[in-house]
Amino acid sequence: MLDRRFSACSGVTELETSPFAMLESFAAWLGRTPLSNYVASQAWVVPTVQTVHILAITVVIAAALVLSLRVLGVVERGQSIGALATRFARPSIVAIALLALTGLLMIAGEPTRAIFRYVFWWKMALITLAISLTSGLLAGLKSQGIWDDPRTPVPPLYRALAVGLLLIWLAIIVAGRWIGYAQGWPGSPA
Ligand code: HEM
Repeated sequence: MLDRRFSACSGVTELETSPFAMLESFAAWLGRTPLSNYVASQAWVVPTVQTVHILAITVVIAAALVLSLRVLGVVERGQSIGALATRFARPSIVAIALLALTGLLMIAGEPTRAIFRYVFWWKMALITLAISLTSGLLAGLKSQGIWDDPRTPVPPLYRALAVGLLLIWLAIIVAGRWIGYAQGWPGSPA
C-alpha cells in the first residue's frame, strides 16, 4: 500500500494516498473548518438541516413512486409518461440538490460520523444507481415510442425496472436511517 505523504495547500497538512487515510485526513481537516464549528455549535442548525433533508426525501420518493406506478399502469393511466416525467423533473432535481447540500452539512457538523460507516457509502452507491437507472428507464421509454402516447403498453423489462427502482429507493431510505446505528469500520476514528 502506498504511504506517501505530502503537504497540500488547502489546509490539509498531511495526506496519505490510501483512500481510507485520505478520508481520515479529510475528516480531520473538515472538523477544523469554521463551517463545521458553526454547524456543531448552533443548536438550531442540525434539526433544521435534518428537516429539510426529510422534506426533500418526500419530494424524491413521491416522484419515484408516481413514475414507477405509472410505468406499471397503476395510476395516471390517462397521462403520458413523458408528461408526468416532465412535471416531476424540476422538483426532483431541486430536491436531490437539497439532499446533497443538507447531507454535506450534516457531515460537516460531525465529520467522523457518516463517512467512516460502510452503510453511508452503500447509500451513495445506491443513489448513483437509482439516478442512472431512472435516466436509462426514461431514455428507453422515449426510444420505444412510449413517451407521448398513454395508450402504448409498457414492455415487461421496463415494468421490472420500475419495481427495481422502487426497491432501490426503499433501500436508500433504510441506509439513511441505518447510518446513525452503524459502527465505524475497524480502525476508523468513528
Ligand atoms: C445526495 C446526497 C446525500 C447525502 C450526502 C446524504 C447524507 C446524509 C447524512 C449525513 C445523514 C445523517 C445520518 C446520521 O448521521 O444519522 C442522512 C440521513 C438520512 N438520509 Fe441522506 N443523504 C443524501 C441523500 C439522500 C437521499 C436521496 C435519501 C432518500 C431518498 C436520503 C435518506 C436519508 C434518510 C431517511 C436519513 C435519516 C434521517 C433521520 O433519521 O433523521 N438521503 N443523509
